[in-house]
Amino acid sequence: MAEVFLALHRSLQNVERLVAVKRVLPHLNEDPAFVDMFLAEARIAATLTHPNIAQIYDVGFADGRYFLAMEYVDGVTLRQLSSSLPALPIAQVVHVGIAVCSALGSAHEKLDIGGERMNIVHRDVSPQNILIDAAGYVKLVDFGIAKAAGTLDACTRPGTTKGKLSYMSPEQCLAGDVDHRSDLFCLGIVLWELTAGRRLFQRKSDFATMSSIVSDPIPRVRDVAPEVPEELEEIVMVALERDPARRFGTAAQMQRALEDFAVLKRLRPSTLDMAPLVASAAPAQRAARDALLEAVAAGDDAGLYALDIAVEPTVTSKSARPAARTTRRPGPRG
Ligand SMILES: Nc1ncnc2c1ncn2[C@@H]1O[C@H](COP(=O)(O)OP(=O)(O)O)[C@@H](O)[C@H]1O
Ligand SMILES: [Mg+2]
Repeated sequence: MAEVFLALHRSLQNVERLVAVKRVLPHLNEDPAFVDMFLAEARIAATLTHPNIAQIYDVGFADGRYFLAMEYVDGVTLRQLSSSLPALPIAQVVHVGIAVCSALGSAHEKLDIGGERMNIVHRDVSPQNILIDAAGYVKLVDFGIAKAAGTLDACTRPGTTKGKLSYMSPEQCLAGDVDHRSDLFCLGIVLWELTAGRRLFQRKSDFATMSSIVSDPIPRVRDVAPEVPEELEEIVMVALERDPARRFGTAAQMQRALEDFAVLKRLRPSTLDMAPLVASAAPAQRAARDALLEAVAAGDDAGLYALDIAVEPTVTSKSARPAARTTRRPGPRG
């Protein structure tokens, strides 16, 4: 739906910072439904300020397209990280789980400026949308299909993506009522896969994937990976209860369970231990990113640099020149 670039934001007196710029894909730019969805993401995400959510700086319109300028997360996606390792150490799995719970809790509980709960649901919690920066901090991104109370439901629009199929909750698959507990199920899938070391609901067809989410028996983590501590398995399996009423009631409760588990097992979920894993993860992607940063640092800022290198690992070139103004002016009046 969108493309994401690295860009240099230059404001008064050459004050510079790197930002990530997200724009609607050109062919979708003419479709008012997609543009609405994009602006809905901006409206929701821009209200959120949390250390585990990539901060939105600005929304702008340049060269006929809307864009979001946000905190650039210099690191890898959780997908890249986990596929670079035989297994993510348990302490780091817990580190990711705690951080994502904290991010989700803050979004779920968010009040609007009038003090009303916004009832934000992310709806796309998946390894591609969980980034980990070079210092080991976890950042949730992509509120592209997030929903807040009172906003239009993108899912009802024809041809609109509904999140990554194999990371959907049963109620999302069944197009039922979706509340904040849906995100906890999706995080449960992510944690199950990190601990078990394999995919949970990926099947040959979309139909088979969705039907497995809705009705296949869910293997317990320790059936696949007996070395995983029982208490952690229990947390993951509670998150994966098909009946939302049997899951954790809130992200904060799930976060607390993970924190208690870490204390019990004397684990130290720390950014300091995560950072070296990020440094060694996905060397090709890291090299591509370094090349982009070098080009930007050398003042070659006339373009935007593709960041979505999870999809196209070899992209290092800048895009067409007309994007240049976006690069220079994603500032307050951009
Ligand atoms: N703030 C960011 N910093 C660095 N990379 C990012 C950032 N936001 C997104 N990306 C990269 O771009 C990819 C796609 O971004 P995302 O917002 O998830 O868009 P989409 O709606 O296309 O999934 C992410 O998986 C990640 O690799
Ligand atoms: Mg995404």
